[in-house]
Amino acid sequence: MQLLQLLGLGLAALTAPAAAHTWIECVSTTVPNLDAARSSPGTVLPNNVCSGYPRNKALDGNWIDESTFYSWNLNHPDTNPNGLACNPTQTNQYPPGKPMTTAKPGATLMMRFWGNGHSSYPYGLPPNKDPGLVRIYWKGAKEQEITSKSELTGANWLPGAQANFSGNSIWRRLPDGRPDDIANYMQFTLPADMENGRHMMVFAWAGERGFLNNGPGWKETDYNNEWVNTYTTCFDVMVEGSGHQGPSAGSGGSGGDGGAADMCSSTPCRRGGMSSAACTGGSCPPCRYRKADGVDCYEYKDGKCPFGNAFDCLLNKQV
Ligand SMILES: *[C@@H]1O[C@H](CO)[C@@H](O)[C@H](O)[C@H]1NC(C)=O
Repeated sequence: MQLLQLLGLGLAALTAPAAAHTWIECVSTTVPNLDAARSSPGTVLPNNVCSGYPRNKALDGNWIDESTFYSWNLNHPDTNPNGLACNPTQTNQYPPGKPMTTAKPGATLMMRFWGNGHSSYPYGLPPNKDPGLVRIYWKGAKEQEITSKSELTGANWLPGAQANFSGNSIWRRLPDGRPDDIANYMQFTLPADMENGRHMMVFAWAGERGFLNNGPGWKETDYNNEWVNTYTTCFDVMVEGSGHQGPSAGSGGSGGDGGAADMCSSTPCRRGGMSSAACTGGSCPPCRYRKADGVDCYEYKDGKCPFGNAFDCLLNKQV
């Protein structure tokens, strides 16, 4: 029942471009039979043993309830008009039996999130859609909260915590051709110089290509500016056993402006999306949207860019 429901809802939901989504099921999981589950997908199910949960994990295991409650659509102008980083239901609470993650500095943890039809590249929904990236943000010190989505940048990146959405997933193809995403995992390592205390973090799925570029010499281990964060889940890690005091030395680095200056000043764009109405630089409307074949630009509507995932050349930032 659960599986059919899941697939039915996934297919229906994913026909609308804004509805693709994911969230963390578990921040710190161990899977004793991981190798067997990986080599016999669907025949051997992974035995996920969770010891640390995302914030306020009040619901458990019902895919539909969870997706309504936990999945936070960052860029929807109607449901997130104030640009919050976390779903307002995700306050810093941990219900009985669903504790916060506890770890030592330097520990490597494995997170589990949902695939929702995007885990397989060839058979995903839709087929051959690049599923993008998953990554983690943190302010580099205890008791520091990320509140705004504008803080989800390279400057607040948990160093190294960025992976292909489907890179470490278990999935199979059902006889009728639909994908069955069994589990998605991401490993991340806590910096060695974290001080004891509660460290707030944000998991993001960067599921759309955005406006910015990665600079020359960019490596896969660097923060990736090309992908835009689309959905988040918030969590905390209680660090214990550290000898370090004070903020940590490093975030992932800023990643520069990702080519924003060029895109606002010298790259042509199509006014209102019409190729017959090309313009360049300051004479163009401020809201830029990267498309496969170029850049569209639109005027503000009600004082802001009309669609999500824009680069606002007046504010000089991704909105
Ligand atoms: C993720 O992996 C798939 C399959 O290898 C690949 O096609 C895709 O480009 C990767 N995406 C990113 C953002 O690295």
